[in-house]
Amino acid sequence: MIPARLSTGARLSLGLLAGVPVLLLILATLGALSQTTVEGLPVVPWQTLWGLPLDRWVRDIAASLVLGFVVVGGLLLPRLDHRLVRLASLAALAWLIALLAQVPLTVSELLGRPLVDSLEPQIVAALLTQTQLGQILVAQIVLVALVALLGWAILGRVTAAIVLGMAAAAAGLTGLMGHSGLHAGHTSASVSLFIHLLAAGVWVGGLIAVCSHVMRHPDDAALAIRRFSTLALVCVIVLAESGLLNASLRVDGVASLITTAYGTLILAKATLLAALIVFGWRQRRRVVPTGDRVSLVRFAGYEVLLMGIALGVSVALSRTAPPAGAIPGDHITAGALAVLALGVPLVMAWAGAGRQGRPAWLHRLTAAYPEPFAVAVAVLTYVMAAIVPSGLLGIGVAAVLASLALIAVGWAFAVAALGPRGLPAIVLAAVLWPAALWLASLSDPVETGAQVALAGAVGLACIGLLVVVRRTARSDPAVAVAPEEVPVA
Ligand code: HEM
Repeated sequence: MIPARLSTGARLSLGLLAGVPVLLLILATLGALSQTTVEGLPVVPWQTLWGLPLDRWVRDIAASLVLGFVVVGGLLLPRLDHRLVRLASLAALAWLIALLAQVPLTVSELLGRPLVDSLEPQIVAALLTQTQLGQILVAQIVLVALVALLGWAILGRVTAAIVLGMAAAAAGLTGLMGHSGLHAGHTSASVSLFIHLLAAGVWVGGLIAVCSHVMRHPDDAALAIRRFSTLALVCVIVLAESGLLNASLRVDGVASLITTAYGTLILAKATLLAALIVFGWRQRRRVVPTGDRVSLVRFAGYEVLLMGIALGVSVALSRTAPPAGAIPGDHITAGALAVLALGVPLVMAWAGAGRQGRPAWLHRLTAAYPEPFAVAVAVLTYVMAAIVPSGLLGIGVAAVLASLALIAVGWAFAVAALGPRGLPAIVLAAVLWPAALWLASLSDPVETGAQVALAGAVGLACIGLLVVVRRTARSDPAVAVAPEEVPVA
C-alpha cells in the first residue's frame, strides 16, 4: 500500500522502482550477477557484481530527477518553483552519493578486490588521477556537488540555467564511460549517448516534476501541461534518434538485434518507448486541451512505471557486452521471440484500439474465429526458434523476414484477442505460446533455462496485458471498439 500522505511527486517516483527487479532479473539470467573464474583474470566479488548495476541505477534515476526538476522548476514554468529546485538539490545529493560509491565499486571490478580493500587511498588515487574513467568520475563528482549546493541558491532563470548546464554536463559525461567510451566510433557513440541521457533525464524527471507542481498550483496547470507536452515531444524524438544511432554503432544489423542478448534488450527498449509514445499521444489528445491535472497524474503513474522499467533495461544493457556480429547458424533469442511475437503486436493493437486507428479489415478477418490466430502465433514462435535465420537469403534478409513474420502474425493474434470473441484465444495463447517456446528450447538448448523462463514470463505478461487493454477499450467510450460495428464474416 502506498501511504496517502506521500506527495504526488514521491508517489509517482515509486513507480521508477519497477526498474530494480527488471534490472536484477535480466542480469541474473545473463549470469552477470554470479562470480566467474577465468584463468588469468581477476574474480569480481559478488557484492560488486550486484552493487555496481544498482549504483548505476540510483545514479541514472537521481540524474533524471535533477535534470527534470531544474528544467521544470527553474525554466519551464511561468514563475520559479523554489520547492522543485530544492528537491533537485536533494536528488543531486543522492546522485553524488552514487558517484562516490562508484569509486570503490569500480576499483573492485577492475582489480577483482573485495569491496573493503578497494578503498585503499593509493589505489583510489591512482584510479582517479591516472585513468580516463577516474578523471571523468572526478569531474562528475565536482559538478554534481556544485549542483547540490547551488540548487539551494537558485534565485532566478539565469542561476537555473547555470545549474542546468552543470547537471547536463555531469549527466552527459556518463556517455564517455562504459561501452561508448570504449567504442571504435568513439565520438559519435559518446555524443549520441550524451544526448540520449539528457533527453531521458529531462523527460522522466520533468514528467514527475510537472505533476508535482500542478497538484500544488492548480492555476498554472493548463500552461504547465501545455509547455511540458511540447518539451516531452521533443525529448521523445531526440531520445529515439540518439538511442537508435547509438545502437546502430554497436549492433551490425537486424540479425544481431534478434540473435544476441544485447540486441534483444535494445528491441525491448524500443518497444517500451513505443508504448510510452502511445501513452504520450493519448495524454496530448485528452489532457492538454482540458488541462485536467487529475487525469495527467493518473496517466503519468503508468508512464513512470514504464519509464522505470525502461531505465532498468537500460542499465542492464550498459552491463551487457555488445555483440561481435551475427553469423549464419545463430538462433533467435527467446527474449526477441517474446518481444516480436507478443510485445510489439500488443503495442500496435493497443495503439489502434480506438475507432480511428482500428484496421477494420483485420477485425473482419479475426473476429469470427480468433482461436486459429492464437495457434498460429505459437506455431510460428516454435518454427522461428527452431529455424536458424540464415540459409540462402543471407542472415540479414532472413532476420528481417523472420521479424516481420513474427510481428504480422502476432498483430493478427492481438487484434483477434481484442475482438468480440477474443477471450478464448487469449487463454489458448497463454497455454500454447510458453509451451512452444519451451519445446523449441529443448530441441536445441542455446540459452539457459532461466533465459527462456524470463522470456516466457515476458510473453505471458504481454498476453495478460491484452486482457487489460480489452477491458479498458470496452469500458472507455473514447477508445471503445464497438463489436456491432465489426461485421462478422
Ligand atoms: C528506441 C529506443 C531506445 C534505444 C534504441 C536505446 C538505446 C540505448 C543504447 C544503445 C544505450 C547504450 C548502452 C550501453 O552503454 O551499451 C542506451 C543507454 C541508455 N538509455 Fe536508451 N534507448 C532507447 C530508449 C530509452 C528510453 C525510453 C529510456 C528511458 C526512459 C532510455 C534511457 C537510457 C539510459 C538512462 C541509458 C544509460 C544507461 C547507463 O549507462 O547506466 N533509453 N540506450
